[in-house]
Amino acid sequence: MKEYCVVSGCAGTIGTNLCEKLLENYNVIGLDNLSMDAEKGLKNIKYLEQSENFIFKYRNVSMLHSGLLPDQYFEAFLKENDIKTFFHLAANSDISNSNFQTEYNNTFQTTIEVLKFCTHYNIKEIVFTSSGSVYGEAYITETCYNENYGPLIPISHYGAAKLASEKFIETFSKEYGIRSFICRLPNVVGTPATHGVILDFINKLKKNLLELEVLGDGNQIKPYMHVKDVVDAMIFIWTFAKNDINIYNITPTGRTKVSEIARMVIKEMDADPVIKYTGGDRGWPSDVPESAMDGLKLRMLGFTPNLTSNEAVIKAIKEILQS
Ligand SMILES: NC(=O)c1ccc[n+]([C@@H]2O[C@H](COP(=O)([O-])OP(=O)(O)OC[C@H]3O[C@@H](n4cnc5c(N)ncnc54)[C@H](O)[C@@H]3O)[C@@H](O)[C@H]2O)c1
Repeated sequence: MKEYCVVSGCAGTIGTNLCEKLLENYNVIGLDNLSMDAEKGLKNIKYLEQSENFIFKYRNVSMLHSGLLPDQYFEAFLKENDIKTFFHLAANSDISNSNFQTEYNNTFQTTIEVLKFCTHYNIKEIVFTSSGSVYGEAYITETCYNENYGPLIPISHYGAAKLASEKFIETFSKEYGIRSFICRLPNVVGTPATHGVILDFINKLKKNLLELEVLGDGNQIKPYMHVKDVVDAMIFIWTFAKNDINIYNITPTGRTKVSEIARMVIKEMDADPVIKYTGGDRGWPSDVPESAMDGLKLRMLGFTPNLTSNEAVIKAIKEILQS
């Protein structure tokens, strides 16, 4: 019989792709409260439910253990079946529209609830989608930050909630013997898209082909990685990393400027708009104008992504336009 994995945030961009990949070898219990985009989320769940090995549970993960205890059937099910690993993805991911309370509830508290859930049901592995945002603006002083860089000083509540989550995952690893795989992701692109700069540009141009508003001065430059590569990297780390606490940057080769992304989207949509930059070095106050993570540790483990940052962006634009 196939083993079970749990995936929180299963209806999102990464969650849907991760579940699809895991279903090749595991039974998957997906949890989501469809808070990101209910219509798109339900469509993604329907797609996953084509597999008889996928079970969806509508749950607010911020209250997964303390507030809304699992229903009796689910409780019995969890006690009868060994759960191999909890993949914890549920979080607010739309950072440009977030605030302290959202990050506290959806990004930090979800992690605490997942950790309590893991200890209660004796789940011994957690894979966590952290973020390059834990490094804050370290790039200003470092050429490229690696996993040993510190002190970590995030500049957004999102980054702080991810870093605090990482720290509690580490202490739960130490205190309760839960092996942890902390994946610090770059900007992730692909389908099903729920948010992000590519979707934003496409939606704006669909409304008005003659004008494109770009947040900031367009010089913001970051690594963009295709969601399929991200999922492969996460599964690779989970399979091959050998420590009790494993922290890895996941990042592609190269980086892409926001102005280049605008140009690529315009080309694919065959448009000729006036580009209006809102100005300033960043899109919103807690945005970082420049980021780069060092991917050496993951390459040394044996993983190399298929696509560069530019290739990932172009592929994602085509996929989003076709979806
Ligand atoms: N996409 C990126 O660029 C990126 C970069 C770094 C890290 N990450 C992290 O990867 C994970 C997945 O990101 P994504 O891009 O797939 O985002 P997404 O918004 O597409 O998916 C997140 C899912 O979590 C769900 N969710 C949010 N709060 C919840 C709650 N309290 N209870 C239950 N479900 C809840 C949402 O409904 C959504 O379906 C997140 O943890 C995110 O912080 C993403």
